[in-house]
Amino acid sequence: MAAIPGPKSQALGERHQRVIPRGLSTATPVYVDRAEGARVWDVDGNEYIDFAGGIGVQNLGHRPEAVVEAIQAQLNRFVHTSINVLPYDLYVEAAERLVSITPGDEPKKAFFINSGAEAVENAVKIARTYTGRSSIVAFSHGFHGRTLLTMTLTGKARPYRAGFGPMAPEVYHIPYPYAYRDPLGHRPDFGRMAAERLYHLFETEVPAEQVAAVIVEPVAGEGGFLVPPPDFLPRLREITQEHDILLIADEIQSGFGRTGKLFAVEHAQVVPDLMTLAKSLAAGMPLAAVVGRSDIMDAAPVGGLGGTYGGNPLALAAALAVMDAFERHPELLVRAQVIGAVVREAFERFARDYEIVGNVRGLGAMCALELVEDRASRRGSQRIGTLVAQYAYQHGLILMRAGMDSNVIRTLMPLVISDEELARGLAVLKDALAYADRER
Ligand SMILES: Cc1ncc(COP(=O)(O)O)c(C=O)c1O
Repeated sequence: MAAIPGPKSQALGERHQRVIPRGLSTATPVYVDRAEGARVWDVDGNEYIDFAGGIGVQNLGHRPEAVVEAIQAQLNRFVHTSINVLPYDLYVEAAERLVSITPGDEPKKAFFINSGAEAVENAVKIARTYTGRSSIVAFSHGFHGRTLLTMTLTGKARPYRAGFGPMAPEVYHIPYPYAYRDPLGHRPDFGRMAAERLYHLFETEVPAEQVAAVIVEPVAGEGGFLVPPPDFLPRLREITQEHDILLIADEIQSGFGRTGKLFAVEHAQVVPDLMTLAKSLAAGMPLAAVVGRSDIMDAAPVGGLGGTYGGNPLALAAALAVMDAFERHPELLVRAQVIGAVVREAFERFARDYEIVGNVRGLGAMCALELVEDRASRRGSQRIGTLVAQYAYQHGLILMRAGMDSNVIRTLMPLVISDEELARGLAVLKDALAYADRER
């Protein structure tokens, strides 16, 4: 195995630093050459197991054959006309498919944009026009994007908000249930209690009748893969309904099979009014969607929604192939549960063996391991996170981190990963933890 980063990656890294702003950070200093399934190869010929999947975009793996063929076929028809000028069959078909696979029996509509942040922006626009109200409630530890409104909704100050203010008006936050760090996290009714913090907000900061929507990630992604107790989302649904407030589920990271169901809200049997989707929706093509009840989706006036590139034909062709794959291969969801069980079992073992593993949690294949200086203090450690991630890529495993101190190792490996690749990746992670435990 060549040195990592190898000479070609190092040369690219130097050019990178000269022309690309540092605000755009990269988790690993190796430059990719090609990718297939759950593996990637860098420009120096090194092979890696991929536990990051392009930040949860590659649930079906890199370059699934059906997706590649669908994109190639569409490339030979047309690449772009703009839905706002000349509409096309793919857009209608993808909307039909999305409304049929998302939770809820009432008539639904869907529309497409390019990124997760745009989906969230549009869900908020729709919620405001439908309710005639302006305020939005979001959660600390939530992540919804990097535009002005979505960074305002995001509940992580650094690096997402600090220095970029003033923030957008009429956004309020309450704490996301984070059992490991909340003093009340041990209570059996912690989930309900976390949802009922809304009542306090209505009393102290914004009356319920001014709130258009509550936006929530069913599992908080970037904030640290926080899995709420099972009664949290149902109680949130009840309270929002009580006050005619819309519930927006941001399934951008948790959707498309990651948690062992097609959408994470299905675990709680909650039907949101609006859902935002992106990432694994189109296997790496830039595509996002807002889906929701037809009467709500129709609230925005004619011409109020859209964008030049939204619902790009190549991206929609990919999305149709993705939705086909999940329909034809329900075993993918079972696989997510199996991967989750294997990872959780390994993580529990790591937690017994290494003092730096403070907490283990997960839903399906959306698993996390929280790194701390030691179990007693529970202090999050960015340094230890960096040691683990560096060791990992230097030994053939691409990892992603999350959490307030970038101290949470999160698993977003493709669901097509083989047993052998999964075991190999977990073995590298074990060695990385042993190394960081020694070095701390
Ligand atoms: C839950 C959630 N919402 C929104 C976004 C923003 O998506 P994008 O980066 O495509 O704008 C992300 C991205 O990580 C996300 O995880």
